Amino acid sequence: MIILGIETSCDETAAAVCRDGSILSSVIASQEIHRQYGGVVPEIASREHEKQVALIVEEALARAAVAKEHLDAIAVTRGPGLMGALLTGVSFASGLSQGLGIPCLGMNHMEAHIFANFIAYPELNYPFLSLLISGGHTQIWRVNGFGTYELLGETRDDAAGEAFDKGARILGLDYPGGPAIEKAAEGGNEDAVMFPQAFLKSDNIEFSFSGLKTALLNYVKKNGDDLIRQNQADIAASYQAAIIGILLNKLRLAADQTGIRTAVIGGGVAANQKMREKAETILDDCTVLYPDSNLCTDNAAMVAFVGELYLKSSSERSRDLAVIPNLRLASQ
Ligand code: KG4
Ligand code: ZN
Repeated sequence: MIILGIETSCDETAAAVCRDGSILSSVIASQEIHRQYGGVVPEIASREHEKQVALIVEEALARAAVAKEHLDAIAVTRGPGLMGALLTGVSFASGLSQGLGIPCLGMNHMEAHIFANFIAYPELNYPFLSLLISGGHTQIWRVNGFGTYELLGETRDDAAGEAFDKGARILGLDYPGGPAIEKAAEGGNEDAVMFPQAFLKSDNIEFSFSGLKTALLNYVKKNGDDLIRQNQADIAASYQAAIIGILLNKLRLAADQTGIRTAVIGGGVAANQKMREKAETILDDCTVLYPDSNLCTDNAAMVAFVGELYLKSSSERSRDLAVIPNLRLASQ
């Protein structure tokens, strides 16, 4: 079975080819243009996807050495994501599938992120915990099997990546903020500033980052630009430690509440090295896995892979191509 995956939910135009559970090619074009605006501009994202999607698909097919006539189906992300960006991918995919006379499957981006773990770790056993931490999501899932997921908790406000991005802006650092803060924090003392970690003591697996961001803003206003510049490493390290503390302590709580000792961490924030170090202590009795960063961040390999699972399960659920920007993954 050969599946073409297409992903255009945010600012990555991606295409991949999957054959019988193996990824033959995966091409990702990141839209660098947003950097100058300090965040993703939705209209620009749609326009860039329109320019790129056909080329990226051609490239993915060429690298896989697969002619489009040999495809069995196309799987495309239909949500969650930016409306215009999603529409570009879905329109392209459904046009191509009609031309080829093959099925087009509408995929949930979050489900694809969860299943990216099986590309990296085919031997992964159910149940496991999946901590998804990106620019748009902060969630912990209990994954019991294909199609049976339980959302254990999520953020009430900002996502973890957003907390990094907004924090970086407050500190005058570059976008995306995660790598910028991680770099600025090198050699800094993370105990220098005590930033609040919301819900740390509560038994709920719930996240909140907006108070932390406000605390940073107030700290910067109170201390003035010069002092902030002089102590940038300490402040960045303290802010980063607060975000990591919130994330890992809630993952710890999920492991304790469920008794599950395998956790996979994915999404752009999973690239953070400090978080990986801290996970070894906070989750010392668990197996914590991180797929390669090209499988953690947005990609189409995960879309093609989960598309194949749907095609094999002959589920009608995947035939819905309606674009839904806030598409939820059913918790069951
Ligand atoms: O998953 P992703 O590439 O895209 C989506 O949002 O779907 O995640 C992007 C987020 C950004 O907010 C970025 O600041 C954050 O991941 N990020 C990091 C690191 N690298 C990227 N956060 C912390 N540390 C990093 N090294
Ligand atoms: Zn994503």
